[in-house]
Amino acid sequence: MLEKFDNYQLLSKIATGGMAEIFLAKHVNSPVNSMPIAIKKVLKKYSDNPVLVKMFLAEARIICNISHENIVKIYDFGKFDDQYFIAMEYVFGQNLGAILEKVRERDLVMPLNLTIEIISAVLCGLDHAHNAQDRNGTFLNIVHLDMNPNNILISYEGKIKVVDFGIANANYTKKLKMDSGIQGTYAYLSPEQCMGKAVDRRSDVFSVGVILYEMLSGKPLYKQLENDMAIMNSILNDEIEPINELMPEIDPKLAKIVMKALEKDPNRRYATAMDMREDLQLIYNSLEFDPNSEMLPSFVKKLFPAHFIKMTKIIEQAQTEYLMDELFNNIGELEDIDLKEKQRVEEEVKQKEEEEKRKEKNKVFFSRLGLFSGIFAGLAVIFFILKFLFIDPDVEVDMVTVFSSPGGAQIFVNGEPTGKVTPASLQLELNKKYIIEFRKDDMIGGLEFTPTSENRQINMQLKQR
Ligand SMILES: Nc1ncnc2c1ncn2[C@@H]1O[C@H](COP(=O)(O)OP(=O)(O)O)[C@@H](O)[C@H]1O
Ligand SMILES: [Mg+2]
Repeated sequence: MLEKFDNYQLLSKIATGGMAEIFLAKHVNSPVNSMPIAIKKVLKKYSDNPVLVKMFLAEARIICNISHENIVKIYDFGKFDDQYFIAMEYVFGQNLGAILEKVRERDLVMPLNLTIEIISAVLCGLDHAHNAQDRNGTFLNIVHLDMNPNNILISYEGKIKVVDFGIANANYTKKLKMDSGIQGTYAYLSPEQCMGKAVDRRSDVFSVGVILYEMLSGKPLYKQLENDMAIMNSILNDEIEPINELMPEIDPKLAKIVMKALEKDPNRRYATAMDMREDLQLIYNSLEFDPNSEMLPSFVKKLFPAHFIKMTKIIEQAQTEYLMDELFNNIGELEDIDLKEKQRVEEEVKQKEEEEKRKEKNKVFFSRLGLFSGIFAGLAVIFFILKFLFIDPDVEVDMVTVFSSPGGAQIFVNGEPTGKVTPASLQLELNKKYIIEFRKDDMIGGLEFTPTSENRQINMQLKQR
């Protein structure tokens, strides 16, 4: 259990960023069933750095004025124990940077429709911020200025939100990044940011262009360079390889959109985020795929099953229990979760269970053997040999991850309750047919499922009875 912080109970650390730490937290008086929130607090070593504190408070002030489904909402900000903090909506999911890294690691490609869906939503959020006014109707001239994949959050429900307006509206990004001593994400800066010139919303269009280029091509545009100066130099002076040369199969209209966003001269770029979104929408509408609101959620869940299950449990506990100190004792740091580790643990559990089964079989057998004596001894020995010969070959069992929407449904296998609720993992035999059923309140679902080494996940959409 982490410490209490002001009126919040910190539940688990989500990330350590450049200047701040992000925690999953709960208001001490939050009602049962309310969703936890995220707390971002300035690292202690930066708490008396006036430049950073100014940036941090600017972030809070800026997002206070914005309410849009593609921008993370802010609930509260203040100072506690000499640390500035922001309390905001928690996005239960992953940042796009982590998603793209996992996609690369697994040699997958980001489906084109999802790429456009994500970038379009980001452009919607940004456009709203760019046009934001204060209560008196004065334009706030907000520019995000730090658009990079880590500042795009995607929830396991498929919501897409922009976060981290930490340096927004400051016309001196480069100076801020340098003065603060923070290792920045220079690879997404616009040429005008690199030159320390005045910037406007078109600077965000450029950064989104870099992200789109990377999502389509599956590799970074500038990241491989050795240091920040080299990256800025490249942004200013190097020609970007036209994406249609890198990917001859790309739709020429889409290639044009990407390269227009990446024009070095802001006057040649899209004038607004919405203009770019409209062009992307035309491409999206021309794609041939079965539109399905479950595609993005299941894509992200499949990449991070361990994180999804662990966080669901933490959130459920936080929603139903009221600040018991012991509650989170056994829940480790989230950053340590890794699918390979999960598979290793599952493998160990599987082996142990198989070992137990084998022992159990042999134990039963030997105890039977003990009943026979004297004249039956010879028969018993023959029986033993026969029995030994006919022991079942090892049945291949495997872990199957089961999700349902909504979650929290009871799981039945072949008509028998398993005592588990979604999300959960079940031990099932490979290549054997099962009937899996789900029940939650008046919602039900069911399917016939045969686990194979390729197919070890169920995503069930529940329906009204
Ligand atoms: N509201 C939130 N909900 C869930 N995760 C978040 C939230 N805010 C930030 N994070 C996670 O923490 C990371 C760092 O947060 P961010 O605000 O971008 O900090 P920094 O200013 O250090 O970059 C993000 O990339 C994201 O993974
Ligand atoms: Mg960030």
